[in-house]
Amino acid sequence: MAVICVCNTKGGVGKTTTVICLADALARMGYSVAIIDADPNGHVASWKEIIGDDSPVTVIPDVDDTTVQDHIEQASATHAFVFIDLEGAASQTVNFAVPMSDLVLMPTRTSGMDLQELYRTEEVVARIRRSHMRYAGPDAVKIVSRAIFSQIPPLSNSVTSHARAQVAEKGIEVLETEILARPRGYGAIHYNGVTPSHPAGDEKANKEIQAVIKEIMPILGYEAPQAETAA
Ligand SMILES: Nc1ncnc2c1ncn2[C@@H]1O[C@H](COP(=O)(O)OP(=O)(O)OP(=O)(O)O)[C@@H](O)[C@H]1O
Ligand SMILES: [Mg+2]
Repeated sequence: MAVICVCNTKGGVGKTTTVICLADALARMGYSVAIIDADPNGHVASWKEIIGDDSPVTVIPDVDDTTVQDHIEQASATHAFVFIDLEGAASQTVNFAVPMSDLVLMPTRTSGMDLQELYRTEEVVARIRRSHMRYAGPDAVKIVSRAIFSQIPPLSNSVTSHARAQVAEKGIEVLETEILARPRGYGAIHYNGVTPSHPAGDEKANKEIQAVIKEIMPILGYEAPQAETAA
């Protein structure tokens, strides 16, 4: 059982896209996967309405700060992976979901303004960690957070390396895998529900998502999936 939430105080950075792609890919690998839709905009619930049974992911809609903890407990008792899609703001729901998560993923773009918002988000996570310290016994686990660069324009290697250096200076860990801007590969989710790991999905986007899964599995205490072998 692993609980993963996405968090960024900025809107439109790729939180919902990341959650749907990772959840759907893991479900197609055979794991039982649920997404808790804790964003009042309900974008995950809308995706599930479009894709229906063509995705094996269970979606729990209309979750707010008063119900998020119950849903995390219930879903994690019956699913191998539970994702929580949060709104792009610091909220009570964020405060309740983060301490119950094994991994806080922080999708971010690489502009200076986006990085400022990433730092603010990591500060929110740090404050949540701090508020739990008094009650943390000897077996306490640290809330683990990782940034992930998302919506990277093609041919922007130098910008990305610069952003990596800046983020590292702040002590924030970033996943190696970068999600490129692929309007067709990732944008399809919102009009026909097709994710990269769907049989009709975009191959390049799927490679990125599989690489992200390979990176996060060990963090979550799972063995990383083996690389595909040539037939
Ligand atoms: N890698 C990508 N390539 C191209 N378009 C993308 C990519 N990731 C996200 N998008 C598009 O960017 C927009 C915002 O993405 P998304 O909804 O995932 O962000 P969000 O952080 O969940 O936003 P909000 O804060 O509003 O919930 C969407 O239209 C989505 O299709
Ligand atoms: Mg969203």
